[in-house]
Amino acid sequence: MNVLLVGNGGREHAIAWKLAQSKELKKLFIAPGNPGTAKCGINIDIKADDCDKLLAFAKENKVGLAIIGPEDPLAAGIVDRFEKAGIKVFGPSGAAAQLEADKAFAKQIMKANSIPTAESRIFDNFQDAKAYIASRDEAVVVKATGLAKGKGVFVCDEPSEGIIAAEKIMEGKIFGKAGEKILVEDKLLGQEASILAFVDGRNIYVLETSQDHKAIGDGDTGPNTGGMGAYSPAPVVTDKLMDQITREILVPAVDGMNKNGTPYKGVLYAGVMITQGGPRVLEFNVRFGDPETQPVLARLKSDLLEAMIATCDGTLDKITLEWDDRAAVCVVMASGGYPDDYEKGKVITGLEDADKLRDVIVFHAGTAEKNGKIVTAGGRVLGVTALGNKIADAKAKAYEAVEKIKFEKAYYRKDIADKAIKVKK
Ligand code: AMP
Ligand code: GLY
Repeated sequence: MNVLLVGNGGREHAIAWKLAQSKELKKLFIAPGNPGTAKCGINIDIKADDCDKLLAFAKENKVGLAIIGPEDPLAAGIVDRFEKAGIKVFGPSGAAAQLEADKAFAKQIMKANSIPTAESRIFDNFQDAKAYIASRDEAVVVKATGLAKGKGVFVCDEPSEGIIAAEKIMEGKIFGKAGEKILVEDKLLGQEASILAFVDGRNIYVLETSQDHKAIGDGDTGPNTGGMGAYSPAPVVTDKLMDQITREILVPAVDGMNKNGTPYKGVLYAGVMITQGGPRVLEFNVRFGDPETQPVLARLKSDLLEAMIATCDGTLDKITLEWDDRAAVCVVMASGGYPDDYEKGKVITGLEDADKLRDVIVFHAGTAEKNGKIVTAGGRVLGVTALGNKIADAKAKAYEAVEKIKFEKAYYRKDIADKAIKVKK
């Protein structure tokens, strides 16, 4: 089968790398892809949001399955367009993608289906938000309700910080339209985990667990980013807890989306805080996590393409996925300055030396090829991923690889996976 994968990040490189191992695959096209995906298939010079061109390309090239990586085209309804044209497509409809693209919609689904999450209020004007935050004397979390590339959430220990965040979003319009409405919610305490599941409208198939590191600095300090590293499995999610998450979160979410007339199909991502009172949803995403996908797919032994087809066909009850028992750790190497402004075009060296290490895969994210050299082209540049018997082994291997890779002003966290190493007794 010919497959068209849409996107150009580290997540898409990981998906492309795994698809390239499939027995079912004939040709893999990635639009627009990056220098990493170019090694797994054929990069096509069409942007991820150019639905017309993607559709025309898919028709001309007999694409049997399109896979949509990022949230923006999903929220814009790319899946509806492909389905209308009779092309099988992995991902939720535009209406179902609002579960990520509109945090107010997500809260409404959670409330209507008794899914545990933080108490919250929604505001569409700054003065009301300010008065509400000022009336509270505990920590608050302020969120733009729209899509903001993982940067739209401010965890504020003091109400005064919350007011500043609300002002930046609503008056300063730092996220544009995505910040016209905000959500103010209680701060939850605990460890986070990312739960990914294939959903075919009816059946749910939970993938191996992972944990992201959203803050830019070691020890979870500084502003949030798209994710600075991840590991799988997340030992904080015991089997018992996974059952509870499935029962209290995933099943009611899928049922709730059906009842709402927006059935869910694709991969459902629940960002969960494991609090003392049990798991609580922080957010839903309607796609694979980035960088969680890198360590999760590094551990997948089964055929990803078959699983994605089963998701589209409503036959997830017929598949079984096998996993590598080893752990995987992904360390993101970013451009100095990210998540704020950063320079691009820095030459990257040492990629081959790192890739040559056993059980190491260097996933490209913000890279480009220029005059035969690989250069930086984004905030998150690489996802250096390694497998190891224990999480500590995978971590050591990933950092060994990171140390071989150099570019000017490269930045990475030094503590990826430490939480898991501490949790594991
Ligand atoms: P979100 O995009 O909504 O998942 O938020 C991004 C990150 O902000 C999460 O991964 C958490 O680290 C943090 N966060 C979001 N909501 C809360 C909350 N209610 N309490 C504590 N931390 C939160
Ligand atoms: N790593 C968080 C996300 O993909 O949203």
